[in-house]
Amino acid sequence: MSDPLRDKKIVFGVCGGIAAYKAVDLLRILVKSGAQVRVIMTRAAQAFVGPLTFEALSGHAVWTQLFGEQANAPFRHITWAEEADAVIIVPATANIIGKMSHGIADDPLTTFILAVRAPILVCLSMNVHMYENRLIQENVKRLERAGMTVLRPDTGLLACGDEGPGRLPDVEIMAEEVRSLLCAKDLAGERVLVTAGPTQEPIDPVRFISNPSSGKMGHVVARIARRRGAEVSLVSGPTVLPDPQGVSVTRVRTADEMFNAVMDIAEKATIIVMAAAVSDWRPVSLFEHKVKKEEIGQNLRFEQTVDILKALGDNKNRKILVGFAAETRNLEENACAKLAAKNLDLIVANLIGQADSGFGSDTNQASLFYRDGGNETLPLMDKGALADVLFDKVLEIKRKANDRIDSSLQ
Ligand code: CTP
Repeated sequence: MSDPLRDKKIVFGVCGGIAAYKAVDLLRILVKSGAQVRVIMTRAAQAFVGPLTFEALSGHAVWTQLFGEQANAPFRHITWAEEADAVIIVPATANIIGKMSHGIADDPLTTFILAVRAPILVCLSMNVHMYENRLIQENVKRLERAGMTVLRPDTGLLACGDEGPGRLPDVEIMAEEVRSLLCAKDLAGERVLVTAGPTQEPIDPVRFISNPSSGKMGHVVARIARRRGAEVSLVSGPTVLPDPQGVSVTRVRTADEMFNAVMDIAEKATIIVMAAAVSDWRPVSLFEHKVKKEEIGQNLRFEQTVDILKALGDNKNRKILVGFAAETRNLEENACAKLAAKNLDLIVANLIGQADSGFGSDTNQASLFYRDGGNETLPLMDKGALADVLFDKVLEIKRKANDRIDSSLQ
């Protein structure tokens, strides 16, 4: 599956808040992802950023006036509304949500909004006291009741010097929300549990055993599952990656902690994707103080950690279980042995050691091995695209299993 933004028509409404400059970055991401973007600016927005910036980046004239020079297309609010695949309002100020929630139409943006039937994303940004005002909170609820998606502001230091909720969310988060609006919800009703990252098994307070997993694969699997409508839990080992938006995240350090977190969630999950690179060994005991180098040799003994995926496979029921195998040789033989030993439906295997595949990279070249003996080799693709393919395959496995049940009942 390609980026949901590709070739989509997005109408981008910019309002008059200090965060209007961030809308420029968001527009660049949307255009770079292949979207065709038309921009509408309110009068106040133009006091913060000039229309020329948005015109240059979108490649189209910006709509700023209902009457006057731009009135040569009197039904623009209707035609743009009909053509739009999605609409984003950024930053959505107290003023615009007040007008939108009460059906006021007195400028290009509000007039257009009333005619839109495509999904609308409202990205709030304002002073914390304005945001907490009961009238604003009620207006936000009205927008949600009208079917709009409202992205709540981030908490932090605001431009006015106050602290609290009010900051416009990160541009990547807003871009992901637009992708989510445009994406088919074919995982709706599924409860997906994903693990990601390495585990760390401490030796003493300053040393541990681990591996170079960056967590990118598992985090993107969680993001894509949520984008496609699943309820998603992510259990992540230590990584520098932020929590994916809309996903319930549990951060853990050791294999034992990951095991406990996974077992708490697994019972209710319908699909489990074990992308974590779990450490297979841990020191038998944890030293309270930093061990001196001359003592390490005599004192370091290891024991195996619990195999989380094997434990899940032993108790599989009707869940779909997906494993990962990073190998340096004998890819097929090793992957198929793990598929069988852990009772999996599918294993995603790749050879590590290549620059553009495996630990830390943004791309992956994987082969898929199935429970029924089938396999396929995928081309090099970015990890998001691989996550999409993976869920396409999981849905296929589920469909086949349901067909088998149906035909056995006939
Ligand atoms: N896995 C797990 N718990 C472990 C080790 C691995 O759940 N203690 C999972 C991984 O998340 C992955 C799959 O099992 O989905 C295969 O992991 P891998 O490390 O490749 O295989 P191992 O079974 O540990 O075998 P080996 O390290 O000997 O290759």
